[in-house]
Amino acid sequence: MSNVGYDKAGKPGCAVIFGASGGIGAALCESLAADGTGTIFAGSRNGDAVAGDTTIPFRFDLRDEDSIAAAATLVKEHQPDLAPDLVVVATGVLTLSNGTGPERSYRALDGASMAEVLHLNTIGPAMIAKHFLPLLPRDRRAIFAALSARVGSISDNGLGGWHSYRASKAALNMLIKNFGIELGRTHKQAVVAALHPGTVDSDLSKPFQSNLPDGQLTKPVAAARNLLRTLNGLTPSDSGGLFAFDGSRIEP
Ligand SMILES: NC(=O)c1ccc[n+]([C@@H]2O[C@H](COP(=O)([O-])OP(=O)(O)OC[C@H]3O[C@@H](n4cnc5c(N)ncnc54)[C@H](OP(=O)(O)O)[C@@H]3O)[C@@H](O)[C@H]2O)c1
Repeated sequence: MSNVGYDKAGKPGCAVIFGASGGIGAALCESLAADGTGTIFAGSRNGDAVAGDTTIPFRFDLRDEDSIAAAATLVKEHQPDLAPDLVVVATGVLTLSNGTGPERSYRALDGASMAEVLHLNTIGPAMIAKHFLPLLPRDRRAIFAALSARVGSISDNGLGGWHSYRASKAALNMLIKNFGIELGRTHKQAVVAALHPGTVDSDLSKPFQSNLPDGQLTKPVAAARNLLRTLNGLTPSDSGGLFAFDGSRIEP
């Protein structure tokens, strides 16, 4: 397959995945490779290679803007005449690396932990947008998507809790809305979207899987397929929205 543009079946020629070491990010890389995507830039903190002849690994850290700028330079230098058709930010945290989990009450709020969650779930993806939105082609279909979560919807919130995570995703959803508006002025065929992948069997969800109803846990490969299908169904008029794995729109 060519690595220029989306083909008629909705497959991107060139994709960039941030979070290729994660459950969903790795599955996205695998699915795109299996579909014959021309070039896949696969970014992770350790920069390890992801299987596949057409995959180019790179290293980045969400807390290090220079590493994100370097990733943009790598993509530009590797393909001077080719722009990425699809950029997906598949990173995110629910439990911090020091073991701090999502708060069940306002009593558990801790400023430093909150700042860390917001930095990783909101500011990091925003920095990726800053360096990668300018790379998207202006003359054909292009997609920038970030993994968000249904719990970031304010209107859908009936349960409360998980304060920092919910707030970080609500803020991410707002940024995606803003980026959709801004990019729409210059990139008429572009789509900017936030995605809810469902409850997916990954390191992120592991501590919270015990009380799930049967059948609610999706394998990463199925989640990746669902997300790619959802993206294929989006048009520029959908830009700025939050969409679930089944293609339905989630109200903010
Ligand atoms: N799983 C679910 O049920 C579920 C539900 C709703 C929404 N989501 C969202 O889906 C996204 C992906 O989740 P997942 O389930 O695939 O989680 P995961 O398996 O834990 O993957 C998280 C990814 O984020 C990366 N990451 C964390 N901190 C980073 C940093 N400082 N710099 C660069 N990368 C960093 C991790 O890299 P390392 O490998 O280096 O740590 C990993 O690649 C998240 O945004 C999550 O909120 C997931």
